[in-house]
Amino acid sequence: MHSFKFSSLFLLIAVSSVGYTAKTCNVLDYGGVADNATDIGLAIIKAHADCVSGATTTDPADTVLLVPPGTYALQTFVYFEHPSYFTIEINGELNLVFDPALKGNMFLFDRCDHLVWKGNGTIHGHGDLWRPNNNLGAYPNRPRLLRFQNCNNADISGVTLHNSPMFHVVIIGNDNVAHDMKIIADHIGATDGFDVLGNNNYVHDVSVENGDECVTLKSPTNGFVAENIQCHYSAGCNIGSFGKDATGVSVQNVYYRNVTLNDGDAGIMLKSFSSSQGVVKNLTYVDFTFTNVAHPIKITDHWCPQSNCPETTGSLSWQDITFQSITGTGDRYRNRPTIEVNCTSGPTCTGITFEDVQLAKEGDATPTVHLENACGSGLPNLPAC
Ligand SMILES: *[C@@H]1O[C@H](CO)[C@@H](O)[C@H](O)[C@H]1NC(C)=O
Ligand SMILES: *[C@@H]1O[C@H](CO)[C@@H](O)[C@H](O)[C@H]1NC(C)=O
Ligand SMILES: *[C@@H]1O[C@H](CO)[C@@H](O)[C@H](O)[C@H]1NC(C)=O
Ligand SMILES: *[C@@H]1O[C@H](CO)[C@@H](O)[C@H](O)[C@H]1NC(C)=O
Ligand SMILES: *[C@@H]1O[C@H](CO)[C@@H](O)[C@H](O)[C@H]1NC(C)=O
Repeated sequence: MHSFKFSSLFLLIAVSSVGYTAKTCNVLDYGGVADNATDIGLAIIKAHADCVSGATTTDPADTVLLVPPGTYALQTFVYFEHPSYFTIEINGELNLVFDPALKGNMFLFDRCDHLVWKGNGTIHGHGDLWRPNNNLGAYPNRPRLLRFQNCNNADISGVTLHNSPMFHVVIIGNDNVAHDMKIIADHIGATDGFDVLGNNNYVHDVSVENGDECVTLKSPTNGFVAENIQCHYSAGCNIGSFGKDATGVSVQNVYYRNVTLNDGDAGIMLKSFSSSQGVVKNLTYVDFTFTNVAHPIKITDHWCPQSNCPETTGSLSWQDITFQSITGTGDRYRNRPTIEVNCTSGPTCTGITFEDVQLAKEGDATPTVHLENACGSGLPNLPAC
């Protein structure tokens, strides 16, 4: 009893001594209405300007911009510059309103630091409305949902993302963590789950159902860990693609562990045009389970999505890539190898290691392997470097 009183008193003094009381900036006090019609974007912007700004401590939990439970319409994109040391908590259901004039990112945080994004709400992108008859060209600038741009130390979790018109989450920066999140979208292109680049980012305990990238890395990246990832119908946990004019590509020190993928177009695909330049090295993929995945493991520097890419002798090198404890099935109905490492001469793919990799097309006993200009260990036809 005594010690409880003492510590409460101490806490009071401690808080008042820094002159700041934790506070919640509730959008309902800044024009928000949970009527599925009033634009919640404007209320979020106003709550930030009138309540959050200038009121932060070095603990993001002290200042919370709150969207409480309820159903809301989202019509204006929310863009914050330098958002730092506060929490955005979305506990409501946000419905993106179909508007052909909307483009860019519904939530764009630029140069953030120690921003926390969380909540048990959902953002419904109603992406199908921007893709009439599955036409990806109808609204080419249609909105994306969430972008952390040049952000450091962000903690991104919770809020379910449902069917974005385009990409779901892009993270650019260092030391960010995304976790305990679900993305559920149509099985169609340009619906990427997590696209990440920067240093020492971490994605864990997420699930992605879509028709494009699951948890994918872009350049430059130095240090990345992904763990406990579920990908449904996706196009895989990939690196790239690096395009025709990509120079200075740099992706290194990457570790993926405990990933399940089912019914996807690809599992782990590392892809560049033959003209790309740079280095991708020290990648480790451990404990992957595939079910009915068309390209379970594929490394190619002959990537050419729209055909007609002139073949050049590019200088992108893929080095020290380890696949360990990888099991499951490829897609028996499509004539694709379960393991493909197809590089330009040099070779550009060196130190490719397979340990305990057991992949076969459904119904087949052994993997189909296509190798060209690769060296490493662990497959019968793979020469040592
Ligand atoms: C909210 O409005 C959207 C249309 O913007 C609609 O699809 C959705 O069903 C509505 N939600 C509720 C709970 O009425
Ligand atoms: C979400 O969290 C809020 C705040 O903790 C709570 O009031 C609400 O009941 C929760 N909603 C659901 C669906 O769990
Ligand atoms: C693997 O990930 C799943 C979630 O996809 C999780 O339930 C399980 O505990 C993880 N296993 C290990 C060994 O980390
Ligand atoms: C390779 O990357 C891992 C992280 O996945 C790191 O621990 C290790 O030090 C790196 N190895 C080299 C040689 O840089
Ligand atoms: C490698 O890719 C080239 C260019 O796409 C293709 O012509 C060749 O057949 C492939 N090699 C293997 C072994 O699949």
